Amino acid sequence: MSTCIRNTLIIGLGLIGGSLAKALRQNRQYGQIVGYDRDPEETKIGLDSGVVDVAASSLVDAVSDADLIVLAVPVKAMEKVLVDIAPFIRETTLITDVGSTKANVVDAAVRVFSVIPPGFVPGHPIAGSEKSGVAAADSTLFEKHKVILTPLAESSSKAVNVLTHMWESVGAEVLVMTVGKHDEVLAATSHLPHMLAFSLVDTLAQEQDNNTDIFRYAAGGFRDFTRIAGSDPTMWHDICLANKNALLAQLDRYTAGLANLRAAIECGDSETMLGTFTRARAAREHFSRILSGTAYSQLMTNQQVIFRAQPGGSVSGKIRVPGDKSISHRSIMLGSLADGVTEVSGFLEGEDSLATLQAFRDMGVVIEGPDSGNVTIYGVGVNGLKAPPGPLYVGNSGTSMRLLSGLLAAQAFDTELSGDESLTKRPMGRVADPLRLMGAEIETAENGRPPLKIKGGRALKGIHYDMPMASAQVKSCLLLAGIYAEGETSVTEPAPTRDHTERMLNGFGYPVSQNGSTASVKPGNQLHATRIDVPADISSATFFMVAAAITPESDLTIEHVGINPTRIGIINILRLMGANLELLNEREVGGEPVADIRIRYAPLKGIHVPEDQVPLAIDEFPAIFIAAACAEGTTIVTGAEELRVKESDRIQAMVDGLKILGAKIEGTDDGAVIEGGELSGGTVESHDDHRIAMAFAVASLRSTGTITVNDCANVATSFPGFVELAQNVGIKVEREEG
Ligand code: S3P
Repeated sequence: MSTCIRNTLIIGLGLIGGSLAKALRQNRQYGQIVGYDRDPEETKIGLDSGVVDVAASSLVDAVSDADLIVLAVPVKAMEKVLVDIAPFIRETTLITDVGSTKANVVDAAVRVFSVIPPGFVPGHPIAGSEKSGVAAADSTLFEKHKVILTPLAESSSKAVNVLTHMWESVGAEVLVMTVGKHDEVLAATSHLPHMLAFSLVDTLAQEQDNNTDIFRYAAGGFRDFTRIAGSDPTMWHDICLANKNALLAQLDRYTAGLANLRAAIECGDSETMLGTFTRARAAREHFSRILSGTAYSQLMTNQQVIFRAQPGGSVSGKIRVPGDKSISHRSIMLGSLADGVTEVSGFLEGEDSLATLQAFRDMGVVIEGPDSGNVTIYGVGVNGLKAPPGPLYVGNSGTSMRLLSGLLAAQAFDTELSGDESLTKRPMGRVADPLRLMGAEIETAENGRPPLKIKGGRALKGIHYDMPMASAQVKSCLLLAGIYAEGETSVTEPAPTRDHTERMLNGFGYPVSQNGSTASVKPGNQLHATRIDVPADISSATFFMVAAAITPESDLTIEHVGINPTRIGIINILRLMGANLELLNEREVGGEPVADIRIRYAPLKGIHVPEDQVPLAIDEFPAIFIAAACAEGTTIVTGAEELRVKESDRIQAMVDGLKILGAKIEGTDDGAVIEGGELSGGTVESHDDHRIAMAFAVASLRSTGTITVNDCANVATSFPGFVELAQNVGIKVEREEG
């Protein structure tokens, strides 16, 4: 791509121009690097310090020879430079700039060129420092920084490609957007904070009497906040003029927010103060996680996490696994809709339940925490949710999307629900269709896939719905919508599914009646804040139950596990396979039964898994497949077609992975036939599915070679700390990040 560039001309040898020149000179992919600066002294320093190969003495000659020109002059000077160089630019020459506003650069180009050359692609590297001048040039300045290119209608795709490659060659990540979008984004994320920093320092400095004291005592907060007030004043003056409208809009938004906070401080409005601070802190943490690539954002899946598990070992000890995911989701939802303050302990701090938490913060609910599993929710009442500022992004979490859709269909405001790549492939028609029967207006992407666009202000009507599949998510979605619908909403399930929504609604004092397999709600009641103690998640405990069950000499106790009758399929199935499993210290905590589970090794045998146990163990099949592969004889799974539409097609993912490990297994439409036997090592794919990843890590206890599992970042959705806990009990698994 870069081979056609023999001469690259950098006009303007400041920090940005000098750093780019230096980096390009080092990577040797862009021909001879020629530098020009209006100030001959700067050009000389550039040459003497090795920033450029050649110092141009005549701008005209340098432009005529250049294959690629980078305009690295201040935005205000851009038009003058374009006027000077326009007559000498060759037809094939590529031109870009590094200006931090784009509309004014484009306007200047439109005035100068009668026709915008196809080689012109405006750009903006989001990098810099308080230093300036060519002497500060740093060839690593752009590494891991973003560069925004804003191609015009006239820009050729070849020019965009070459310039993308050029920035990537100096370590930058290139984003492409329109000129308007660029200026709007930069006004909010860069220009506004600079204005605040300049203005704050200036305001404090004008307090004549004690400004030296103020600065002398200024601690970290002041320094952190005002670091950027050390930037170049002329440059910022020019930026203010160049991006005036977008910047004024952002300043107005900020001023209104500040006035709001001022009023709250004045009248001691703790809820607004806490709301502002907790939302801001959460947004800031979310932002930091995005930057470090660990958030429940699209970026999470970009981070390569591999599990490498050495063969053998046995498991023993006493452990507690993280809180129940289903109950954690519901605690946030119902706590938010309640009147009063709900205290939650044992909350799962996994990406899925955090996505639900963030969604409610976005809808104006003040939520403190989570802090070591403790969350405080300041409920807003059944009708107290507010329109979120933008689409609600729920990452990998099907539960968030499906349950929220029921609630949101009944709100006064419009919403959009979106998720990550895996969630975007999952069926949402199963909730959208019955909600539409209730009068909801919901738009989905093709085939009922996310995103969901939900219209507010619809009056819902209660319906009776016979669910075609056994799904707790669909049932819960409709019951939540039913709180707002006229008349009764009832849902009949074809087989028992988890009933946490019904139990918790009752726990909040909202009546749900149960008549055989039909649950129903009526509108018009209130939820009253309560305390929720979230038990440990039996679905997370499953990996350790199976680990102990398949491994000779194992003896493991998992404490405080939720054993709700609608979740204990795994206990029943493992017992049918011959596992030695005891429930100790059975008790009830906040309306949910809980026990310690002790499991010791005993040889397992293959079984035909009873179909009535399938919905009660629906999330446990990846681990059950591993147990079956280590059992004596054949295990047959039927009636489990739902597994094909989980975070991945779990039948296919397990069949493919187990085959790689040498197991004899065949998938069927609704399950699989698995022959027990020996497992070898190998590299298997998790398909970004947390439960597939953990199941294969556990398989290493019985494999003869190392098992490598790809794409394990999503384990953080349900089981943060899985690897550490697995290591503690004796599983030889390591987490590697790439
Ligand atoms: C869940 C219900 C189940 C389960 C999911 C959590 C819930 O999904 O697989 O992990 O919290 O209601 P379905 O309702 O789609 O079976």
